Amino acid sequence: MTVGFALVLLWSLPITNVLAELPVPQNVILRTLNTQYLLIWDWDQTTTGNTVTFTAEYMAKYKMQRKKKNWSRVCERTTDTHCNFTGSDLHYFGMYVLRVRASADGLNSDWVLKDFCPDKDAVLGPPSRVELAPVGNLLDVTISDPLTSTQGSMKEHVLSLYYHILYWSHSDDPQGLKPKVVDSSNNLVTLPELEAWTWYCVMVQSRYDYYNKTSSYTAPQCMQTEGDTLCWQIFLVSLVACILLVLLPYAFFRFYRVLKNTLYPSIQLPAHIQEFLCDSSTSSEMPILLTPESELCYNNLSVCPEVVLLEIHIPPPFTAPPSGLEQDSSRHSRQGSEGSGDSGVYSTEGGSAQQGRSGRGVPIRRDKEVDSWQTLEQDKLEMGGEPGD
Ligand SMILES: *[C@@H]1O[C@H](CO)[C@@H](O)[C@H](O)[C@H]1NC(C)=O
Ligand SMILES: *[C@@H]1O[C@H](CO)[C@@H](O)[C@H](O)[C@H]1NC(C)=O
Ligand SMILES: *[C@@H]1O[C@H](CO)[C@@H](O)[C@H](O)[C@H]1NC(C)=O
Repeated sequence: MTVGFALVLLWSLPITNVLAELPVPQNVILRTLNTQYLLIWDWDQTTTGNTVTFTAEYMAKYKMQRKKKNWSRVCERTTDTHCNFTGSDLHYFGMYVLRVRASADGLNSDWVLKDFCPDKDAVLGPPSRVELAPVGNLLDVTISDPLTSTQGSMKEHVLSLYYHILYWSHSDDPQGLKPKVVDSSNNLVTLPELEAWTWYCVMVQSRYDYYNKTSSYTAPQCMQTEGDTLCWQIFLVSLVACILLVLLPYAFFRFYRVLKNTLYPSIQLPAHIQEFLCDSSTSSEMPILLTPESELCYNNLSVCPEVVLLEIHIPPPFTAPPSGLEQDSSRHSRQGSEGSGDSGVYSTEGGSAQQGRSGRGVPIRRDKEVDSWQTLEQDKLEMGGEPGD
C-alpha cells in the first residue's frame, strides 16, 4: 500500500514539474566561425500560446565551483532563437559555460548549459582571400589569413595555422579529382611542377592540427601559366646582346671617323706648310722666326758687348794688368754698351755674331767672366781708392 503510494508520488512528480515550468530550449548549439560565436536553439511554438522570450548568459568555467556565481548576461528577454556572443570578448583560449532559458507567462524554464572553448570548438574559417598570379611557367598563390571579428589575422590566435592547397590541371582533370597537394604556413606559395601555357585550378583550406581543425575550401580559382621563365630570360638577354653587338661597333666606327676627320683631314696641306708644322713640333729654333727685325734685336741685346770685350781683353791674363789700362777697358766696355744704339758700328759685325757665338763662344764667355770679375775688382778699387772720382 505504502509502496504503491510512493510509486504514484514518484510518477506524479515529473508531471507536476512539467506543468509548473516551461520546457527548455531544444538543440542548443554554437555556430562559430573564427571568433564569431552564435548560440542558437530551437523552440516549439505550439507548447505555449503566448510569446516566449529567451535569456542567454556565460561564465568562465573555473568560476562554476564558486558558491556565489556571477553570470554575464548577453541576451535578455529576446524573442530571437539565437544569441550573439561575438562582442562578449570571450578569450580564445578560455573555457566558458554558456546557458539559455525560455520565459513565458511569468514562468522560467530550466537553464540549458553548454561548454564552450573557442580554441577547441570554434570553427576555423578558410582564407579570406586567395589570388593567383602566373610567374613564368609557375603560379604564385597569395593567401590572406582568415579574419577575426575585429578584422585581425586568425594567426594571432592560432599560431600553427597553415594552408592546405589543392591544385590540378584544368585540361587533364576538369573536376579536380586527382589534385596535387602543397601544405604551407606561408602566405605566398609558388606551386611547383607546372607546365607552361596551361590552365590550373586552385583551392585552399586553413588547417590547425592541434584540435584537428580544417576549414572549408575556398572556391576553385583557375589561372593560366605563361611561358618558361628561363626561355623568356634567355630571349631577352640575347636580344639585348644582339643590339649591343650591332650598335656598339657602329658607334665606335662613327666616333673613329669623326675623330680621324678632325685630326687628319683628307685634304692634304701643301708640302712646305706640313714641313713647317713638323719642324715646329720638334725644334724650338726656327728659321721662320728670324725676321730681319728679330735678328737686329738679338744682336743688340747680347752679342755686341762681348765682341768689343773680346778684342781688347785677350792679352790681360798673361801680363800684369796696369791699373790705368784696366780703367780704360772698363770704361771702354761701358762706352760700348752705351753705344749699342749705334747701328753703324754693329751692322758689319752682325753677320759674324752667330759665327762667333758658335765657334768662339766658350773663350768669349770665359773672357767675359774674367773681365767682369776684374772689372768688379777694379770698381771696388776705384770706389775704395778714389772716392772723389
Ligand atoms: C560580475 O562580472 C561582471 C563582469 O562580467 C563584473 O563587472 C562584476 O563586478 C562582477 N560581479 C561580482 C559580484 O563579481
Ligand atoms: C554578431 O556580432 C558581430 C559584432 O559583434 C557581428 O559582426 C556579427 O555579424 C553578428 N552575427 C550575427 C549572426 O548577427
Ligand atoms: C581529424 O578530422 C578528420 C575529418 O576532418 C578525421 O577524418 C580524422 O580522423 C580526425 N583525426 C583525429 C586524430 O581526430
